[in-house]
Amino acid sequence: MAVSLHCYATARWAEKSAALIAEQLIEAVERNGTATLMLAGGNTPRPLYEALAKLTKVPWDVVYFFWGDERVAAPDEPGSNFKMAVESLLGPLGIPSDNRRVNPMPSGGDPAQNAEQYEARLRHIFGIADGSTPRFDVVLLGMGDDGHTASLFPGTKALRETERLVVANRVAKLGTTRLTATLRLINNAHYVALLVTGEGKADHLAAALEPGKRFPVQQVDPIHGDLVWMVDAAAGEQLAVECEE
Ligand code: 6PG
Repeated sequence: MAVSLHCYATARWAEKSAALIAEQLIEAVERNGTATLMLAGGNTPRPLYEALAKLTKVPWDVVYFFWGDERVAAPDEPGSNFKMAVESLLGPLGIPSDNRRVNPMPSGGDPAQNAEQYEARLRHIFGIADGSTPRFDVVLLGMGDDGHTASLFPGTKALRETERLVVANRVAKLGTTRLTATLRLINNAHYVALLVTGEGKADHLAAALEPGKRFPVQQVDPIHGDLVWMVDAAAGEQLAVECEE
């Protein structure tokens, strides 16, 4: 597994990071004829998705979209990771949210059943039987200010899951249960991009880049893939790295 870090001026982060991700999608289509993309939620990715949607060199008509986690929010409610991606990426690309290549995580009803349903959908789309693990071409992740990623929060059960691909994870500190990809699924990916911006993340980013596994985000460790941190100068202010203008 190769680990690299790109630091960009805040004003250029979205555009530069989008270009890196676009290249990975193009390479995936060259390899496989299609590309599988797991989207991150939260706020950080929005400008990146908007920049990505402008890159017409990506063969979007053969990209399959998935989510790495989802809140208990209806697809049209604020806070929905699906809604954010529709607004910033799928909509601008002209891809209908009911397109067969768009695979939102279910958010209503029983979270445990939803997780099982999503896992079954992944297995079906990737054409794999129980026991093996889908290999995403590109996984996008954010990092919370407690070092969580996807909805793998510190001290939660999902962090210890080694068999399932998607689980319903009780997050006591938020008083909610969220669907999340597990580390087994994430760490089987070909390319994982960790997207971190803003001075509020600077302390945790510096800590997350230290050796060790204190935070969930430090357990993102692709077995046979690349891990690429894409950070802006504000988040990277404590790092001894040059941030490209
Ligand atoms: C979510 C995300 C989560 C996010 C971090 C960072 O559903 O919230 O998947 O892992 O990436 O919480 O969120 P921000 O980008 O909003 O800081």
